[in-house]
Amino acid sequence: VEEEGLSVLEATGAEDGESLIASDPSIGCVLVGWHFGPHAERDPHTAAGLIERTRAHNGSLPIFILTDRTQLQAIPLDVIRVVTGYVWKLEDTADFIAGRVANAVKAYLRSIMPPFFGELVRFAEDYEYSWHTPGHSGGTAFLKSPTGIAFHEFYGETMLRSDLSVSVPQLGSLMEHSGVVGEAERAAAKVFGADATYFVTNGTSSANKMVLHGCVTPGDVVLVDRNCHKSLQHALTMTGAIPVYLIPSRNHYGIIGPIHSSEFQPETIQAKLADNPLVEGNGDVGAALAVVTNSTYDGLCYDVQTTTELLGQSVDRVHFDEAWFGYAAFGPMYEGRYGMHRGPR
Ligand SMILES: Cc1ncc(COP(=O)(O)O)c(C=O)c1O
Repeated sequence: VEEEGLSVLEATGAEDGESLIASDPSIGCVLVGWHFGPHAERDPHTAAGLIERTRAHNGSLPIFILTDRTQLQAIPLDVIRVVTGYVWKLEDTADFIAGRVANAVKAYLRSIMPPFFGELVRFAEDYEYSWHTPGHSGGTAFLKSPTGIAFHEFYGETMLRSDLSVSVPQLGSLMEHSGVVGEAERAAAKVFGADATYFVTNGTSSANKMVLHGCVTPGDVVLVDRNCHKSLQHALTMTGAIPVYLIPSRNHYGIIGPIHSSEFQPETIQAKLADNPLVEGNGDVGAALAVVTNSTYDGLCYDVQTTTELLGQSVDRVHFDEAWFGYAAFGPMYEGRYGMHRGPR
């Protein structure tokens, strides 16, 4: 196996093996020796226990049982169901077994690659010259000065060779949402529970501006968290919107936010609109959008369903700016507290 360019970690027993697998995500294949008695399979420290828990931990990691045909009958059906295959110790040559393991590792690595990153890695492996932006030409421009070399060494050649323009056709189109970019956007939508996902290359400042450009026209009222990010102030200026501020609380520890639910009540919002000298009439025009920073800068997060229901009585669109809370969907304790939560929206 080592001659195939892979490294081998040997476990001293099932328990040690399990700790290795749980602590090292770079493991690409598991070979388990099956030499326990027929009644030992329920013991947590047997091969069966190891296989069961490894499979629960990782649904696609290749697992082979090292055995011979005489022992096959001793392997319980629920173990047979979850393993990838067998290595017949006494029948196959070492070369064949190593080739089979290397192939399983390769197929596993291919299967876990997400669409865009997988294609980027394949593209980098083709050693193509870069004829487009960015102008450092795969990092070679940095190799012409001592400072450039320090920069090149710091980031490494792979990062600079894969710093590519949108004009690389193999990597799909961000404008048309096609190719691997399109596939990756659809995969991201599925993972985050969105109807659609569009990648933005300039961070949340640009994303906020896109949201406002998409749903606000000059003179529209936007209900906005008074402690919002400055990109929203920029977006309000760019779109010519009229901000009507939702005022967050501040306690005696200096902690800012959240905005209390009283600020979201339709009567409060109506009064704010009526009082605002920039809003025409008595505020009956309503607001085009509401923007809430979630979580707040001090880490407080909203009950999103209640907040949306309350704001929904005054406005049709609610934008939760979750610039650095984007992974809340993956922490069960945050359920119901992020814009794309699993409850009714
Ligand atoms: C709430 C909030 N929105 C937007 C942004 C802007 O994000 P970016 O730096 O990715 O443009 C930040 C950045 O800190 C933020 O905290």
